[in-house]
Amino acid sequence: MRNTALIVAVALVAAAIGGAWASAPLKATMRDWKAGLGTLDEMTAPGGGFDSPQISRIVNQLSDDAGRLASRLSTSNAQAQDVKRRFEALAADAQSLAAASHRDAARVKYNALHAGCVSCHDAYAH
Ligand code: HEC
Repeated sequence: MRNTALIVAVALVAAAIGGAWASAPLKATMRDWKAGLGTLDEMTAPGGGFDSPQISRIVNQLSDDAGRLASRLSTSNAQAQDVKRRFEALAADAQSLAAASHRDAARVKYNALHAGCVSCHDAYAH
């Protein structure tokens, strides 16, 4: 059942994103996101080296990626709608983190962003 959901989700995204993403498949994007989240986790942890410009670069890229994925998903069925909504929320959470001006605020935003990854994986990627 979960495998079916995964295959459907990936097929939906793959169909929706089409040619422009053929050279940068979803998995590669997800791996970039994972690397970025690792850096954000370190930087926003207590005692971490909070570096606002680097945080901005990472979350702006993530927000662009997620926004692009969302914009290419149709809303023709409930599942596509749900995946689209999740990518839109991720983009918004990333922008919100970019706007955080100090580490404690950024940590709260980081946790929200990370929850968006986990929630979609629970629904579609396990
Ligand atoms: C809207 C749904 C959704 C969101 C949001 C999402 N993912 Fe994913 N992710 C998936 C799906 C579906 C797969 C499985 C892709 C596949 O197997 O082809 C996946 C796979 C992955 C993988 C494994 C890639 C590989 O090499 O097999 C990583 C790492 C990952 N995601 C990281 C993240 C991170 C970090 C975030 C948050 C910043 C995130 N994802 C947000 C749906 C999502």
